[in-house]
Amino acid sequence: ELEQTLKGKNVLVSAGPTQEALDPVRFLSNHSSGKQGYAIAKAAKALGANVTLVAGPTALEDLNDVNMVHVTSAQDMFDAITSRLDVQNYIIMAAAVADYRPEIVADQKIKKSDEEVTFHFVKNPDILAYIGQHKKENQVICGFAMETQNLEENARKKLESKNCDMLIANNLFTSGAGFQTDTNVVTLLRKNDTQHLPKCSKEELGYKILETMKEIEMEK
Ligand code: C5P
Repeated sequence: ELEQTLKGKNVLVSAGPTQEALDPVRFLSNHSSGKQGYAIAKAAKALGANVTLVAGPTALEDLNDVNMVHVTSAQDMFDAITSRLDVQNYIIMAAAVADYRPEIVADQKIKKSDEEVTFHFVKNPDILAYIGQHKKENQVICGFAMETQNLEENARKKLESKNCDMLIANNLFTSGAGFQTDTNVVTLLRKNDTQHLPKCSKEELGYKILETMKEIEMEK
């Protein structure tokens, strides 16, 4: 039995990919498994928090005693999160949200022809940036960044531009890190601090993230 250090706290976690429809049978998505976000939600529950998990389509089972909110597209995820934002204390955006969506969703299956085809994409709302812009005094925000180059530099820029309190940076090309795995190798960035964490399970990283968010809250 763990000490209930997050009792009375409202924690919102996002997890998984989003799916952006092209037509009734096709979509654009990414390789996110949802494992990291689910692991954070599980850790938050074990520490006694009231947990809301906003999840894109994954193969994972719903967590017990967690308020599960299933969504499909980035716009759905934006709506699900922003409508629940005010009461949250800790917000962790672990989802791999699609940056773009097809401008037009065909209402019938797109037929194949002999021609090449071109799609036009428009930008999705940046949920984390929105959360950062509307951050309240009592809220602590954690973002994620997956990069394939200049990891730390890009991650630090993201921490600042999205007004996060902390950011977890993932290098897609490090073994034992990233999509589908049960472990992660990450760098934890705060305003004046950079920590290269050793390889750990996604659940251990969940505890580390929540512990750090609690520290940040106490320092406020
Ligand atoms: O800008 P980038 O996509 O690399 O930022 C990653 C972080 O921003 C993640 O925490 C992700 O969940 C969040 N994000 C978001 N909405 C988007 C794109 C990313 O909340 N449209």
